[in-house]
Amino acid sequence: MTSSKPDIHLVAICGSVRPGNYTSKALALAADEARAQDDVRVTVIDPAEWSLQPAGMGGDGEPAARLQEVVGEATGVLLATPEYHGSFSGVTKMVLENLGFPSVLASKPISLLGVAGGAIGAIKSLEHLRSVCSHIGAIVLPGPVSVANVQKVFDEQGKCLDPGTEKRVRGSATKLVDYVRGHICPRLCLEQMAREAAES
Ligand SMILES: Cc1cc2nc3c(=O)[nH]c(=O)nc-3n(C[C@H](O)[C@H](O)[C@H](O)COP(=O)(O)O)c2cc1C
Repeated sequence: MTSSKPDIHLVAICGSVRPGNYTSKALALAADEARAQDDVRVTVIDPAEWSLQPAGMGGDGEPAARLQEVVGEATGVLLATPEYHGSFSGVTKMVLENLGFPSVLASKPISLLGVAGGAIGAIKSLEHLRSVCSHIGAIVLPGPVSVANVQKVFDEQGKCLDPGTEKRVRGSATKLVDYVRGHICPRLCLEQMAREAAES
C-alpha cells in the first residue's frame, strides 16, 4: 500500500504588536525558510488581528476558540517573542493564555525565537518562555535562537543585514521541520495507513 506524505502545517506566532516590530521581521525569515519545503505550509498569527483578551476578561471567547482551533491543528509551532523588561512580552503571555487550559500546545513541538534591542539578546525571555511552554506540556526544542541588537541587524523593511544571524533565524525553522519529519510524521503516516486500511 502506498501512502501520500503527510502535510506539515506550522503555526508561526508573533509576540509583538508594536507597529513596525522586529519580532515579526525575524519570524518572517523563519517562516520563509519553512515554506521553502514543498510539503510545509505556514500560518502566521499576528495577535493584533485577533481581538484577544486576557483570561477572565473575555479570553475564553470566540477569538480564543478560533485560535485554539488553528493552533490545535498545527503539526508544530514557531513562537517568537521580543524581550521586554527582562522577560517575554505580555502579548506572548496573552496568546499562551488564550490557547486553553489545558493548552492546545501540549505535546506539540515548539521552536523558540527571541529578539532584543540590547547587546545581551533575548536570553532571559527565552529562558522564561521555555519554562512556561514546558509547564504547558509542549515539546520545547533545544537551541532557542536569540537575536541581539535587533534594530542594527534588521532594516526597517525586514531585510537581515547579518548573514550569520539570518542563518541562525532560518535554522529555528529547519530544526522544527526536521523534528516534525523525524518524530511526528512517522506517527501521522501510521495513522493514515491505518485509516486507509480500515476504509479499503
Ligand atoms: C516595554 C519594553 C521593554 C523592553 N525591555 C527590554 C529589555 O529588557 N532588554 C532589551 O534588550 N530590550 C528591551 N526592549 C527593546 C526591545 O527588545 C526592542 O524594541 C526590540 O525591537 C524587540 O521588540 P519589537 O519586536 O516590539 O520590535 C524593550 C522594549 C519595550 C517596548
